[in-house]
Amino acid sequence: MGKLALYRACPILGAGLGKDRLFDPGPLRMNKTIEFVIWLLVCCALCASAAGPKHNWDLHCAQCHGTDGKGKTKMGEKLGVKDLTDPALQAKVSDEDMVKTIKNGVRSGGMTRMKAYGDVLTDEEIRQLVKLIRSFKK
Ligand code: HEC
Repeated sequence: MGKLALYRACPILGAGLGKDRLFDPGPLRMNKTIEFVIWLLVCCALCASAAGPKHNWDLHCAQCHGTDGKGKTKMGEKLGVKDLTDPALQAKVSDEDMVKTIKNGVRSGGMTRMKAYGDVLTDEEIRQLVKLIRSFKK
């Protein structure tokens, strides 16, 4: 489920579950308010976890490598990115190689083809991205 969809669905779900008492003045009202706040917190936690590697991929990588990793984008084709879903490529490149490439970027002939993400992403985020790339394998 997308992040936005979660944001929309959660309060509705929370309000729906507490519907009988949430808007009802009376002794139970405070409890329901607290319950609603807890719902919101749970939802925020869910949304935060949804903004993981896929979010980073779409934000930083997809304009070249494509949302699916195939690299069939304008930028990707111009720069000659390889198909990251290709099992042969996946077999050839180790996790360590991928981490290094993502940290240091790709340069050839004095030109930066892919920028270095070592300062942009944490080690953990990079590790998660490598996992995501592995999941692209056909
Ligand atoms: C400006 C375009 C561009 C962006 C943005 C970009 N890349 Fe790249 N990437 C390249 C190019 C060009 C190469 C070198 C050719 C190749 O190996 O596909 C490359 C290579 C790679 C490789 C090595 C593949 C191999 O064959 O060893 C990995 C892994 C990779 N990119 C991951 C990422 C990740 C993760 C991000 C986002 C954090 C990202 N790239 C963002 C252009 C880009």
